[in-house]
Amino acid sequence: MPAHGAVDGRLTGMDGRDLVRSVRMVRAVGPAQGLRSVRSAWRRRRADALALPRRGAERARVPGEASGAEPQPGGGVIRFARSSLRVRVAAGGAVFCGWDGAGPEPSYALAGACPEVDARAVLEPDTEGGWRVVSERVLVVVSRFGAVEVRTPGGAVLRRELPPRWWDRTEPAGMAEQEGAAREEGGRPEGAVASRWVQRSEVAADARFFGLGGRAGGPRLRDGVYRLWNTDPGGAFGPGDDPLYLTMPVQLVVADAGTHLVFHDNSWDGRVTLREGVEGAGSGHDRPGTCELRMDGGPLRYWVLAGTPARVLLGWTALTGAPALPPRWALGHQHARWGFGSADEVRRVVAGYRERELPLSAVHLDIDHYDGHRVFTVDRERFPDLPGLARELRDEGVRLVSIVDPAVKAEPGNAVYESGAAADAFVRDARGREVRGVVWPGESVFPDFTDARVRKWWGALYAERLAQGFAGVWHDMNEPVSFAAFGEPTLPRSARHDLEGRGGDHREAHNVYGLAMAQAAFEGLCELRPGERPFLFSRSGWAGLQRYGGTWSGDVATGWPGLRASLSLVLGLGLCGVPYSGPDVGGFSAVPSAELYLRWFQLGAYLPLFRTHSALRAGRREPWEYGSEVLEHARAALRERERLLPYFVTLGQLARLSGAPYVRPLWWSAPRDRALRDCEDAFLLGDALLVAPILEAGATGRVVRLPRGRWYDTATGRAHEGPGRVWVDAPLSRIPVLARAGAVVPVAGADGGTELEVWAPAAGRTGGGLVVPDAGDGWRRPAVERFSTRVEAGRVVVERRGGAPVGYPVRVRGLP
Ligand code: NOJ
Repeated sequence: MPAHGAVDGRLTGMDGRDLVRSVRMVRAVGPAQGLRSVRSAWRRRRADALALPRRGAERARVPGEASGAEPQPGGGVIRFARSSLRVRVAAGGAVFCGWDGAGPEPSYALAGACPEVDARAVLEPDTEGGWRVVSERVLVVVSRFGAVEVRTPGGAVLRRELPPRWWDRTEPAGMAEQEGAAREEGGRPEGAVASRWVQRSEVAADARFFGLGGRAGGPRLRDGVYRLWNTDPGGAFGPGDDPLYLTMPVQLVVADAGTHLVFHDNSWDGRVTLREGVEGAGSGHDRPGTCELRMDGGPLRYWVLAGTPARVLLGWTALTGAPALPPRWALGHQHARWGFGSADEVRRVVAGYRERELPLSAVHLDIDHYDGHRVFTVDRERFPDLPGLARELRDEGVRLVSIVDPAVKAEPGNAVYESGAAADAFVRDARGREVRGVVWPGESVFPDFTDARVRKWWGALYAERLAQGFAGVWHDMNEPVSFAAFGEPTLPRSARHDLEGRGGDHREAHNVYGLAMAQAAFEGLCELRPGERPFLFSRSGWAGLQRYGGTWSGDVATGWPGLRASLSLVLGLGLCGVPYSGPDVGGFSAVPSAELYLRWFQLGAYLPLFRTHSALRAGRREPWEYGSEVLEHARAALRERERLLPYFVTLGQLARLSGAPYVRPLWWSAPRDRALRDCEDAFLLGDALLVAPILEAGATGRVVRLPRGRWYDTATGRAHEGPGRVWVDAPLSRIPVLARAGAVVPVAGADGGTELEVWAPAAGRTGGGLVVPDAGDGWRRPAVERFSTRVEAGRVVVERRGGAPVGYPVRVRGLP
């Protein structure tokens, strides 16, 4: 298992992957950094070899037979010969299961206090020596030997967990305290005993798996092994690369019997092996879908939420926090590049947008604007007056966003390093020395964001970014990355972390590092600029990231597969509760063909984060760099995005209120439609629109699978009836976008005010929609406005619920 990699036979020598990575790395960072990263990789290996426990004798354990149970509010504790299981149903129906005494807290994922229990849920004896917890929304049945079934109130089995298995080992004092911390009482093992564990589960033969954070090969997660360890792939990635920067032990399982989400609240390294089931396999019997979760340590505890997809996401964000609401400008088009190189080049690009009347809402400055790549500094030769530049751009409605990397250059005279060192803010090794790694600025140290004190210190540093005129931040390299010529490009697993005072090491802290960094920045920005909502997006993160901001694809490879991977990431992350994300339009790594650039741009225009970005030497992403035809079509996409801004604002607000992502799989409202479950090349944007991007070279049309009901091609007005597959033209000028009959879409009118675009309901049908007006960049919460639509005497009638006047100009499209 990887947790022991530091002391197993692979300690010496590089494998093939290492070799490829080090060649790529030397190419990317240059020979001097390359050499440093060889040294750093050795240091890392040595530190782990000395400080991590050797894999000594382990004792396998299963729960054994149930011996009794003790009712508690919301459920109870069932005792087994060699373990115990706590089952607790929360108000709202989320089920918590904790083995070995694990309780729901402490947790990096939960938004705050653990949710109230459902006082009506009761623990009762079941047949054959088992137990069950009965509640309004779910039934949990625990067998005599510790298998756990989660069933719908009607009795359909959503998930069957087989009895878990642990491998207990004794670790030297101080190694295992973090595992014990999640145990409330009554659990085994105690003291300095740590356990690896595995849990196998079965789901219906027709079930499909989604989620696990940002996965390039989805959104439907096919048979395979998915690692839970946030990882910079060390180069541009495509659909075959896994894991990536933002993993989460969150699965959404969709089956005829119902939808459920399961979240294993454990931040350690792990592997999820998924195998879809087969109906009527061998002698006509179904073979269930299976999921096996193997964790290197940490508590065995999980939450299950069941219901419709919308209800599950509502419950999930109630548990882990409402998504932060981006300011309106962050829903417009944003332009980034690694290597603008100077303030004048930024001005030139912005002028290019202005002169061509292309909307632009933000420019992102990458690490090349730092002084020698040092975070929270500015290269004053190339950017002599950054606040002045920010003001100038702001006057024309363009914000500046800054990259922020966690690594701090370790050198005397670097103010951030000195203040951090004085505050004892950096991660230390088992012997108490600062852990040194290598990132862009050279030899660096890493703030320990799992320490509240350090988060406070770091959050205050954003004052410098605000003073430079930045309106938002973009967190990068926070998996965290430390370049390594071989082995993992991150901190040693033995590195010590505060973990909110519990103490522990990087094996537990790694996956929550980016999340805790986002918390530090979010809280710091709220304190520094209380009147404005922070704008933050982060490459790495974990369950609950949405509380602080969004994310983006990271270094997606330029190419058609990369375009597909972009959509997979956005859809998958949305189903894990992180609704705001988007790719590097055009791909990060190389110069795209004009056609690929345009098709990526057209998809990006319908994703929450709409941002062009590219690597150093990967060419430009300005829409006019690809010829006049592309420019014209990109302009149309930008204008359409501008027109849809009131709809995006509404979707952001609805995500905050309900957890429903802006970008939803086609099965969102019809999870029982199996054909939709397998459709991965299109998505719903809110309730009203269906977007079918072009993901192949040379295509000028495509087949679109429609959910039930009437859908209008928004370009031609032609009506199509679903369910079914239809052909929709997609000349270079546009990608297919269909509107649901009856939908109400708030759009920007010619005068800039909001209008309602109403798509005629089919005869005899009704429709409707929600509108949430923009309430500025502060914290004011606007009311949700509800509209209904119907056809009366051949005319489309729009009404506002509650009887108030509609209050917006209405434009009806499509024919009833
Ligand atoms: C890696 C990020 O993923 C990329 O977007 C950025 O341009 C580079 N780091 C340089 O900061």
